[in-house]
Amino acid sequence: MLLVASSGAYVVQDAFSEPEKQREVKEMSDTFMPKIQELAKSARMLSLVGASIRLRSDASVMSAIREQIELGARMALGDGLDEANEEEASVALTMVEMALSEAGELFRNPDRGSNWEITDAAAMQAMGRSSKSAFIRMKSIAEMYPAMRETFSGTFLDVGTGVAGIALEAARSCPEIKVEGIDIWEPALELARKNIAESGYSDRVSARNLDVCALDEQDRYSLVWLPTMFLKRPIVEAAFDRIVRASVHNAYLVAGIYTQPADPFLALMANLRTLRSGGEITDPLEIKTMMEARGYVEVELSVTPIATFVFGRLP
Ligand SMILES: C[S@@+](CC[C@H](N)C(=O)[O-])C[C@H]1O[C@@H](n2cnc3c(N)ncnc32)[C@H](O)[C@@H]1O
Repeated sequence: MLLVASSGAYVVQDAFSEPEKQREVKEMSDTFMPKIQELAKSARMLSLVGASIRLRSDASVMSAIREQIELGARMALGDGLDEANEEEASVALTMVEMALSEAGELFRNPDRGSNWEITDAAAMQAMGRSSKSAFIRMKSIAEMYPAMRETFSGTFLDVGTGVAGIALEAARSCPEIKVEGIDIWEPALELARKNIAESGYSDRVSARNLDVCALDEQDRYSLVWLPTMFLKRPIVEAAFDRIVRASVHNAYLVAGIYTQPADPFLALMANLRTLRSGGEITDPLEIKTMMEARGYVEVELSVTPIATFVFGRLP
């Protein structure tokens, strides 16, 4: 059997197939291949837009190549890119980068399980660098919540500390905070210890091998970060119980979950991201309910396109 292009459409040539069957396959191909071509074109257009933004700050590229990239980006976006200011261009670049890297990774490894069981040091360090934005966001939320700001002078528990990206950002931006990171993935913890030793914050930051379900402290933490997108439901339930016992009065818990966009396709992608991260819960209201059932008050949601933070105070 042979698939050949014939005047733009794809048909199946088979010496033994009946004309009826050939027609059926042709009709199916009439929509299938053009759709694939359209999607493949969109992927290339997105990469051209990203390339064009990146070239704004790179004078070294060959002028003929720059011309084609800029022409292509304009074909994709019209004049939109010329009109975008520096800030809009930088947000657009982050969006392009995330879409292309998620798409490329999914295509190359559709069969992989949880993404934190990686041993590649560069990939773990990259995850650490990108996750430090979680603490930057906690600080900006705290600007509106004086009781949350108070927690920055206590002890912060960073669950799933990985290579200590969030932990070190906390130490860097809050001079009084002490940080305890816990994790069960020894390859990441080894890097965390190295990063902490090289950071100059080793007097205030530590990282140890501990499953959050085995957390045994009492009345210790003023602030806890729990990334639920990496944990199965029973682990999240057990973690909440342990965290409540380990927290002081007026402690805050911030639980991260991937945002569920209204668009059905993007919602599917968010669910897939959760599953491939080792998580299970996709509804932030389920997290809110779990927290309220354990005595958290003033539980609220902070939503951005990628991650939602559910946070509350334990009186
Ligand atoms: C994506 S990583 C977090 C990255 C981290 N913020 C950093 O700076 O590298 C999620 C982490 O959660 C950890 N983890 C998963 N299950 C856990 C559990 N039950 N207790 C503690 N840590 C857990 C994983 O080992 C992984 O390192």
